[in-house]
Amino acid sequence: MRYLAPSLLSANFYNLENDLNILSKKNIKYLHLDVMDGMFVPNISIGIPVISSIKKNTKDTFILDTHLMIEKPERYIDNFKDAGADILTIHREISSDYLKVIDLIKDSGLKVGVSINPETDVNKIIDAIDKVDLILVMSVHPGFGGQQFIESSLEKIAFLNDLRNKNGYNYKIEVDGGIYVENVNKVINAGADIIVSGSGVFKGNISENIDRFMETFKE
Ligand code: DX5
Ligand code: ZN
Repeated sequence: MRYLAPSLLSANFYNLENDLNILSKKNIKYLHLDVMDGMFVPNISIGIPVISSIKKNTKDTFILDTHLMIEKPERYIDNFKDAGADILTIHREISSDYLKVIDLIKDSGLKVGVSINPETDVNKIIDAIDKVDLILVMSVHPGFGGQQFIESSLEKIAFLNDLRNKNGYNYKIEVDGGIYVENVNKVINAGADIIVSGSGVFKGNISENIDRFMETFKE
């Protein structure tokens, strides 16, 4: 099963209700929420109050796929859980012991993901491969929407897909950054299950953009 996970970062923050209603009507399951702290990445975005408000007002419409681009994420696991996050994805590159943080998230009862930046070798997460529900391959440098897709991420997706097929692991493979209807085929063919798109969904007509993504998924 393949899923489109719209990234809220490119939504209209002045009228989120409108944008989220469209996603809901189009049966979008995963809503990708980018949390940035201005330390791990050079940008600041949304946080706990926004997630909490979305959960309260959309109930169980979406799986809140929360991408934590923050240092020391272990400080906030309970807060994100209380806000209604369903998946917490941390970065391999954080300064904390990432395996310990993965265990803490699992202990909290939430689903856990680990993400790697474009310059990080995929072998750096081998220790976590049987612990996580999701692996997020960054196909841009994290921090901003609207950047260009980095091709070398395709090899990482294919490697993770191969590894999963050979060993029967259950993790989902997610890819994030620079993905549009025009290039989504590449990540699908490499083996990605969850495709994040911000600009590709929210720029222009949201409903039409989603339809076009869905057509591609069928092929
Ligand atoms: C970047 C974020 C992405 C971003 C993707 O740091 O992790 O989720 O919103 O945006 P697009 O699809 O515009 O590259
Ligand atoms: Zn993201």
